[in-house]
Amino acid sequence: MKGLVLSGGKGTRLRPLTYTGAKQLVPIANKPVLFYVLEDLVEAGVTDIGVVVGDTQDQIRAAVGDGSAFGARVTYIPQLEPLGLAHAVHIAEEFLQSDPFVMFLGDNLIRDGIVPFVRSFQQGGMNCLIVLKEVQNPQDFGIAQVQDGRVIRLVEKPKDPWTNLAVIGIYLFDHHVFEAVRNIKPSFRGELEITDAIQYLIDNGYNVEARHLNGYWTDTGKMDDMLEANRWVLEQIEPRCDGAVDSASSVYGKVVIEEGAEIVHSVIRGPAIIGKHARVENSFVGPFTSIYHHCTILNSEVEHSIILEHCHIETQGARIEDSLIGRHAQVHPAHTKPRAYRLVLGDHSRVGIL
Ligand code: DAU
Repeated sequence: MKGLVLSGGKGTRLRPLTYTGAKQLVPIANKPVLFYVLEDLVEAGVTDIGVVVGDTQDQIRAAVGDGSAFGARVTYIPQLEPLGLAHAVHIAEEFLQSDPFVMFLGDNLIRDGIVPFVRSFQQGGMNCLIVLKEVQNPQDFGIAQVQDGRVIRLVEKPKDPWTNLAVIGIYLFDHHVFEAVRNIKPSFRGELEITDAIQYLIDNGYNVEARHLNGYWTDTGKMDDMLEANRWVLEQIEPRCDGAVDSASSVYGKVVIEEGAEIVHSVIRGPAIIGKHARVENSFVGPFTSIYHHCTILNSEVEHSIILEHCHIETQGARIEDSLIGRHAQVHPAHTKPRAYRLVLGDHSRVGIL
């Protein structure tokens, strides 16, 4: 069985971070979402993996390389425009050939891996297997109607959903899906939808089954989902300290301090992770916070936030909460008069002032 990971697309809902960065590389507990996806595939024995890439392909290639760091062999499949999930399958046909494959959306995160789904599909008898999970906002997803274990109807982002069962970003197919993607038309949003391709399979007598996911899953496409995923992964971390904590500092609860990190005259209250070569000085880092590598947190309080690499945060004791701060961002005191906020914000930035 092969793997197909979708890491193209636009990432409009995570702007401004995704103006310059791939959404699949935003770290959850200091690890890019895409890495969890690759690890799940390898755990299920899927090591021959095609990765569909778009505008951000240089970053994805730099982060994932040839896949050997994950125990996989990665083949990159450039998609010139994000024309839809089914379009991504269409352009991957040469790589996938007639092998069955598991398609995994590169921004989806699940807790218990994909082993049971891969095993079910390998037992045979199915042309497609999808995975469903109850959600509170079914209008934001593909939804599916199931009868006696077989899927009979799918709709993409319905205005009036008739079920709360969303299709999550893990799909298993045999080669009949190529016939389907060749025969569907672009949707209202101009994309070749994978839900339409699966509906084609159903309408043409192929066997499409569904399994229910009991464990945690999230589509990390939005800021709140990122913070939730970060919370959830941090709750599971094994505490360790590979950095340095001075005697004036205190570390409570589940905290990971990565190699080269320094904690000086500070309090860290887990679950939290402090990345490689980060420095936390005279500060408080509270629960559910991930500080990525090479950040400086000085005279500040940070809680329930994700701070990406190379940030400098210096708030003179003020507290940052519920925040997602992009790479190389700087927050520091304004010493010049008049007293004012001085902001250099990218398009679609959001700032909550006191
Ligand atoms: O997360 C589950 C949902 O994923 C399903 O319920 C929906 O049925 C399915 O259409 C999809 O919806 P999204 O709107 O969330 O898909 P998104 O545009 O975020 O793309 C998902 C991933 O696929 C993301 O990593 C980007 C990548 N992608 C997307 C498109 C449209 C590509 O690689 N190429 C593309 O053309």
